[in-house]
Amino acid sequence: MKVLVTGGLGFIGSHTVVELQNEGFEVVIIDDLSNATEDVLKGIEKITGKLPLFEKIDLREKAAVQDFFKKHSDVTGVIHFAASKAVGESVENPLLYYENNIGTLVYLLQQLQQKPEASFIFSSSCTVYGQAEKMPITEDAPIQAAMSPYGNTKQIGEEIITDTAKVTNISAILLRYFNPVGAHSSTEIGELPLGVPQNLVPFITQTGMGLRKELSVFGNDYPTPDGTAVRDYIHVVDLAKAHVIALQRLLNKKNLVKVETFNLGTGKGSSVLEVINSFEKVSNTKLPYKIMPRREGDITEAYANTDKANNVLGWKAQLTLDEAMASAWKWEQKVRS
Ligand code: UD1
Repeated sequence: MKVLVTGGLGFIGSHTVVELQNEGFEVVIIDDLSNATEDVLKGIEKITGKLPLFEKIDLREKAAVQDFFKKHSDVTGVIHFAASKAVGESVENPLLYYENNIGTLVYLLQQLQQKPEASFIFSSSCTVYGQAEKMPITEDAPIQAAMSPYGNTKQIGEEIITDTAKVTNISAILLRYFNPVGAHSSTEIGELPLGVPQNLVPFITQTGMGLRKELSVFGNDYPTPDGTAVRDYIHVVDLAKAHVIALQRLLNKKNLVKVETFNLGTGKGSSVLEVINSFEKVSNTKLPYKIMPRREGDITEAYANTDKANNVLGWKAQLTLDEAMASAWKWEQKVRS
């Protein structure tokens, strides 16, 4: 069974390709290498013993997408990661985000709707909930007005898929990720942010290596137990496995409705200080940090109610925050060695 993974050389994509190959799927990756390198293919091969097929394609080129589906006419399952994901950049350049994240989704769905049957897994985000009123967050929590063009592309993407599935042979699962962190235990693949990391964990590991002077903790006056903001940090390998289970669910027609939505998190909230503590413990290093004002657009807390993912999807996060931080640290050390 051949599966297309768009953005398959990226952070979550590459870990998912590993899990798909471990489960016996044949994988073809599309990536434009805008935020990844071809070296990732070697890492995947080292872990799984198999080199996935790879097509360097910019999904904004409609003709290239059409040609891909002519060449790989046996692809009926797609896991769609390829997208831009920097919140700040999306505010600066909204049209880039609408073109990259929405235009490309439309082109993919246009190809899939021509097939007698198709399965589509979409990378969505807990950002669609904004600051939810109730914790932990269930899938039926109201969608709130997006705080950035990036967040808006996830909301619009979900709507486009839902509208399309209603009138086509496409079935879909929308996966709303909480905060993916960590790296593969082999240290063959992991997160490789370009430039200064915007996300907490890569900033911590780079600071641990001395690449950054100190971490800025954005706000310690939140209404949380220690005053710092709370998130649900999920190990990327657990997250990757959820994609395989979701795809198998669609392929085996176990889905209850045409479009299903699942939160992917651990169910446990951790504050910024708890993440720092975890890092210090597993790395046995002291992390320099200073308390700074809140970052604009940040919410106080977000952690998942995982009942639906556990009971309906049949998936549960297995790895702890300490394990995630240890793997992220091991990866950072390898990358810099
Ligand atoms: C961010 C995005 C979110 C996106 C997700 C993808 C914002 C506002 N939100 O989520 O839309 O889906 O990344 O991974 O950018 N922190 C620090 N110091 C730092 C970096 C982060 O204290 O140098 C804090 C943040 O204030 C936050 C927590 O760490 O409380 C996690 O931050 P981050 O990793 O950027 O994730 P989110 O903001 O949750």
